[in-house]
Amino acid sequence: MEKKHLIDPMDFSVKELDEIFELAHQIIEDPKKFSKICDGKILATLFYEPSTRTRFSFEAAMMRLGGKILGFSEPNSSSASKGETLADTIKMVSIYTDIIAMRHPKEGSARVASIYSNVPIINAGDGGHQHPTQTLADLLTIESLKMGLKGHTVGICGDLRYGRTVHSLIKAMTRYEDTKFILISPKELKIPDYIREEFIKKNNIEFKEVERLEEVIAELDILYMTRIQKERFFNEEEYLRLKDSYILDEEKMKIAKEDMIVMHPLPRVNEISMEVDNDRRAAYFKEAEYGMYVRMALMCKLLEVI
Ligand code: NCD
Repeated sequence: MEKKHLIDPMDFSVKELDEIFELAHQIIEDPKKFSKICDGKILATLFYEPSTRTRFSFEAAMMRLGGKILGFSEPNSSSASKGETLADTIKMVSIYTDIIAMRHPKEGSARVASIYSNVPIINAGDGGHQHPTQTLADLLTIESLKMGLKGHTVGICGDLRYGRTVHSLIKAMTRYEDTKFILISPKELKIPDYIREEFIKKNNIEFKEVERLEEVIAELDILYMTRIQKERFFNEEEYLRLKDSYILDEEKMKIAKEDMIVMHPLPRVNEISMEVDNDRRAAYFKEAEYGMYVRMALMCKLLEVI
């Protein structure tokens, strides 16, 4: 694969994504075979914003490939707190390491980093913009549990305005035949116009926007729940007013299809009640597990060790 960086979900073609998923399946089947493949490689994780799953899954992924890791999860412990620019930090870190996964509150920061880096940059979330490796985890989950990526009615529920995983997933899913979107959010938290115009409408994808989950849950093949993104609100009152907009519980699951799957990038706050965890349609923990395997496959490809 010639691609050097993963900044946006559209950086990879559908064919390249298939190659990554195929490799992820091979790793899942026989992890031992890949346990030394990144021997001598170093991953840097530069996290300027909080994370549990994404950073740990990157670090676990590299360790399981036999490589090493360094980085920070608290920008105050790096030279950013002394006023160092992102460009300088990236120039330095790309001398010390072989691949960089970064998360930053500013939209476009990963793109900027890629200009200054000699090694592959992976965008692990740039503000409310994109989160392409979560999308890899999401797509691998759908592909594995729903027998492929075509022909699904995908309900996306919650904070569609600020949720970067939502923006990346919609972009990516527009490339699969017969995708239909049902976008469920309060009117204040609808998807950004550029996603609706440039990706959904331009590709003639069937979609509707509604406010009530109960109204549409029976139509869905996939329900992608999201957290209201507290940290992106300008106004605390508005957050408090909207934070409990959706709570998925067993009552609502009763109306859903028998084979619908429930996804969530996690962390959840209260938008999926714990009782749903025991429902066999709950796929969010599996999704987190797929996230690690798909990041293993991604790093193998970007580092060209395979
Ligand atoms: C998501 C994120 O950081 O955007 N988390 C994740 O990486 N799995 C979702 C969220 O924080 O709500």
